Amino acid sequence: MAGAFAGSEEIDRAARAFHRAFGRAPEVAARAPGRVNWIGEHTDYEEGLVLPSAIDRDTLVLGAHGPGDSLEVESEALGRAGFRCTAPRRAGAWIDYVQGVVWALSERGHELGGASLWIGSRVPAGAGLSSSAALGVGVAFALDALFGLGLDARELALVAHRGENAFVGIGCGILDPFASALGRAGSALRIDCRDQSVREVRLGGDVPVLLVAHSGVERRLAEGGYRERVDDCRAAFAAARQGGLVPASATALRDLRSEDLEALARLVEPRLLRRARHVISENARVDRMASALEAGDLETVGQLLGQGQASLRDDFEVSVAELDLLCELADAEPGAIGSRLTGAGFGGCTLHLVRAEAADEVAARIQSGFEARFGRRPEVHRLRPSDGAALLELG
Ligand code: GLA
Repeated sequence: MAGAFAGSEEIDRAARAFHRAFGRAPEVAARAPGRVNWIGEHTDYEEGLVLPSAIDRDTLVLGAHGPGDSLEVESEALGRAGFRCTAPRRAGAWIDYVQGVVWALSERGHELGGASLWIGSRVPAGAGLSSSAALGVGVAFALDALFGLGLDARELALVAHRGENAFVGIGCGILDPFASALGRAGSALRIDCRDQSVREVRLGGDVPVLLVAHSGVERRLAEGGYRERVDDCRAAFAAARQGGLVPASATALRDLRSEDLEALARLVEPRLLRRARHVISENARVDRMASALEAGDLETVGQLLGQGQASLRDDFEVSVAELDLLCELADAEPGAIGSRLTGAGFGGCTLHLVRAEAADEVAARIQSGFEARFGRRPEVHRLRPSDGAALLELG
């Protein structure tokens, strides 16, 4: 996995690929990155807090006007697909993420004409680094520029979210598109998924190295598991409300306090109690993590990462043996500050915060320890908290 698309040379290369695909020059170019989440996992769809950074792995989208109402899309990795932008219809394939954006724009009253889009991505798919949000946000930025819609980054994030949520039907929260659209280099974003407010959290002190290890277990295979967790949270919340633990006006597990868990235990089966306990404890970790990151208090950062991983493993049950091992291997190293899975879980990547001087050593230990147990070497990458989506100059 190479780094971000950068520099005019790469954009020229993409423009040549666009020309080969469609026989004319692109008119606009946009990039949108993937993300890691420091803490606040599986809290977004319960209106809680999250703390992601955009990363220096991104998706590039080039576009030009086309005839009629047909949208032709060429993905460097996935091939060619198309649809009529006045009648998007779910195909059960990657093109649905593009269709979802067009559908969400038209739902807001933006009628598009025909267009050609070329897509190249450096965000690994199925790794839990949000390749789908990078795709949706990149397409939203490109279409906004091409058709002069005048939407800002936040609105385009909401368009991408609506497309993925309601059209593709994933049922996810706003974590990924907000991080991709609004990320800031050297920072994390503290996002309140209820009022959708965003605060930039500058990473203070000696910023350690952020390693991401890919378990090689593709998370998309477990999409059903994500839906089940969303449903479990809804069921736990419904029981809490019916039992009078939250006011009738409450809308999400965000409204439940840790003191309420004892009473909830009498209302729901143990699995639902564990799900609620994760959301409540994880939510509380977000502001503590934001303060610790700002202050450069790495000891607290490490503790919170460890607590988050334990909660995802034991209460939310979205870790797998490969992710647990990656965390254990890194945490056994003296230069490691803390580790946890990042993203939805069920596979994908772990995030490891490591002292700069120990980064190579920790990466090598993770790879050899993992290989000894699972017979394959995991990819390990250094990531940098980076800027969110933007338009790019075409040469
Ligand atoms: C996926 C979803 C996000 C969020 C995370 C878990 O990445 O797309 O909305 O729920 O899982 O925190």
